[in-house]
Amino acid sequence: MKIAVIIGTSKADGNTRQLVDAFVKQTDANVFDLAMCNISFFDYLHENKSDDFLPLIREVISYDHIVFATPVYWYSMSAQLKVFFDRLSDLLTIEKGLGRDLKGKSISILSTGFDVNCPECFIQPFEMTANYLGLNFKGCEYVSVQSEINFDALIKAAKRAVVCVT
Ligand SMILES: Cc1cc2nc3c(=O)[nH]c(=O)nc-3n(C[C@H](O)[C@H](O)[C@H](O)COP(=O)(O)O)c2cc1C
Repeated sequence: MKIAVIIGTSKADGNTRQLVDAFVKQTDANVFDLAMCNISFFDYLHENKSDDFLPLIREVISYDHIVFATPVYWYSMSAQLKVFFDRLSDLLTIEKGLGRDLKGKSISILSTGFDVNCPECFIQPFEMTANYLGLNFKGCEYVSVQSEINFDALIKAAKRAVVCVT
């Protein structure tokens, strides 16, 4: 199974990236860091259709499973990932073919946050988007980081994520 990880975080070498790195060590997943992409806000006029969103989607479509990796920022996905999600609307308008190609793939979440438990409201947009777009939502692995990062917890969560994906 080909796995793509799309990460959106404000800290390049932060907690979420470390969780992603632990996951990648156990899979052949390829990481796409939204910090390296120029993707602008959704535009009803699609004047941004030449930015990096469509090339990224075209590449990601060659994978079977997409992991969305994001910290919990204010009970939500990161702003970087939300901009990417908003742009999925392009696949319902100017690029319907790509939208059809996306159908049937599976997705999951890798996340870190301060709170002990991952809030349900954080997970819901991923689940509901998956339902809307005809994707198979496979679950969320979350690591709470309250002081020093616990590498054992990180590796355990990454292992659970591998099981959940495959
Ligand atoms: C802007 C901001 C908002 C945050 N909001 C939450 C939150 O709502 N719930 C939570 O548990 N942690 C919250 N945190 C803590 C981060 O989720 C946590 O430190 C996470 O591991 C950071 O990952 P990163 O290093 O990839 O940025 C917030 C942190 C920041 C910077």
